[in-house]
Amino acid sequence: MCGIIGYVGRNNCMPIIFDMLKRLEYRGYDSAGISVISDSNLYLMKDKGTVDALRSVVEFVDCSIGIGHTRWATCGAPLKHNAHPFLDCKKELALAHNGIIENYRELKDGLMREGHVFSSETDSEVIVHLIEKYYTGSNLIEAVRTALGQVRGSYAIVVLDRRNKKIVGARHESPLVLGIGKNEIFLSSDIPGFLRHTNKVVYLNDNEMVEISHGGYSVYDFSGHTLQKEVKEIQWTIEDAEKGGFEHYMLKEIYEIPRAVQDTLRSRVDASILEIDFNDFERILLIGCGTSYHAALYGKYLFENLLKVPTHAEISSEVRNSTLAMSDTLAFFITQSGETADTLAAARNLRRLGATTCAITNVVGSSITRETDAVFYTHAGPEISVAATKTFVSQITALYMLAASVGEVRGEISASVKTDLRNALRVLPSELQKVLDNAEPVKNVSRELAKYENAFYIGRGYNYPIALEGALKLKEISYIHAEGYPAGELKHGPLALLCEKVPVVAIATYDELYPKMIGNIAEVKARNSPVILFSTENHPEANELADFVVEIPENHQIITPAITVTALQLMAYYVAKERNCPIDKPRNLAKSVTVE
Ligand code: F6R
Repeated sequence: MCGIIGYVGRNNCMPIIFDMLKRLEYRGYDSAGISVISDSNLYLMKDKGTVDALRSVVEFVDCSIGIGHTRWATCGAPLKHNAHPFLDCKKELALAHNGIIENYRELKDGLMREGHVFSSETDSEVIVHLIEKYYTGSNLIEAVRTALGQVRGSYAIVVLDRRNKKIVGARHESPLVLGIGKNEIFLSSDIPGFLRHTNKVVYLNDNEMVEISHGGYSVYDFSGHTLQKEVKEIQWTIEDAEKGGFEHYMLKEIYEIPRAVQDTLRSRVDASILEIDFNDFERILLIGCGTSYHAALYGKYLFENLLKVPTHAEISSEVRNSTLAMSDTLAFFITQSGETADTLAAARNLRRLGATTCAITNVVGSSITRETDAVFYTHAGPEISVAATKTFVSQITALYMLAASVGEVRGEISASVKTDLRNALRVLPSELQKVLDNAEPVKNVSRELAKYENAFYIGRGYNYPIALEGALKLKEISYIHAEGYPAGELKHGPLALLCEKVPVVAIATYDELYPKMIGNIAEVKARNSPVILFSTENHPEANELADFVVEIPENHQIITPAITVTALQLMAYYVAKERNCPIDKPRNLAKSVTVE
């Protein structure tokens, strides 16, 4: 996720352009850049680092039109030459892009054969060269349309044309909104970009384009037809708008899950990157802290099930001092931030012991990427709330993609399992959306759970890590003491704690362990604990044992946990809200834990 902007209007507009970018920094902040036209010259200023850092070093020129970008790297490290905007070879056009171009390698190869020279490792740069290829100098909108016809993926773009002093914007599965001011027009990934200047908005839909210049704006569809769009007035404050109208970043990020999953799926996490023989390894280790450890534990079930290789999930702080020889080990380090000190130390240690190491991270260019032999990115976009939400769902999606691709290389996954899983993944984003669109049952049970001081979360198999993650989410933001347990383990101690004051959140989505879960729920009920049940639609057998039920869409048993955990995150959020907790910044916690 990145932030893009376009502006046409007043003289001396560089401060406005920087202010707009600053407002979008929540979408990315590892590099920034702007391009403006002054005296018919095209200026490009960009660097790694924040918008403020760039602003403090550039020379301000007089201009009244320009574009800008604040980046969250997905393809190409966060370095100056990979920062947007990008110029075409003739330096007539500048482009900023938000999204992922899936077929950029083949497009780039073709363009290079035709003589185009590239300056970055990004996927985005191909778009400006493609536009250059089709642009004769008079009809930019047509050239952009032709170029985008060849692009596969998601994008919102802004293209600045030096000769004609205009900007063309276009969107497909990435946001772009138009702001209409008095004698000035704004384009932005999100409303906060321009809300200080105007509250008049034109929402662009997917596959729509807009041309803005000092003469006004026109909106078109991708077939070239002019569209009449309604101008809407929005009533939010800037603060509301930065959270996209959500009260907290955590809620906003939960609602970004369907999009984040789609981006992870699009990124094609592929085992071929590793260039290793998977048959060389006797075991796989999955390593992380906190939420990332829970993703590792989910991965253990997944890898053993799909790959038939002994797989262990380990907590980083526990393996960082291991002394075992590991030349037979393939180790994955899962870390959203890529900066967690314990995980970095564990990666260093296991590499020293001979393991082949891979990182799964959300932050391009983070420290973990320098400590491992290979890197997979989750592409969930920046996460601001301390509690990890969308990044966890992206981690388990990436793990699934890895397992599927390694399984294919090893010949462990049958064609029918592959088809089942592919179909399951295809509907995952819409099923996630369904949970988010129908949050009432979750809100109702949250009001009940908020009354207690202790809770247990139970699950079996794939749902055991999901129980751990649900409990972690609840305790860290609502301060209710919560423990996740394998459901079969209750009878070995914790049952002693169960009573009417200790509710149990039971995750009993449908799989081969479902009958056993029904037995465990009966055990809990016999101790008078209130039961909050997360079950799957079409399988209500356990519902009558529960005091409260949240039904979630049923998918493949490997994929359903992504849906269940989204509902559990939402429940933790509403419990914390009910208890008036500082949700985005829970006490004693930090987003990135760089101490040991
Ligand atoms: C919980 C949470 C933490 C992190 C943990 C590891 O919501 O966010 O438990 O998961 O500190 O962080 P990363 O994944 O950045 O290594």
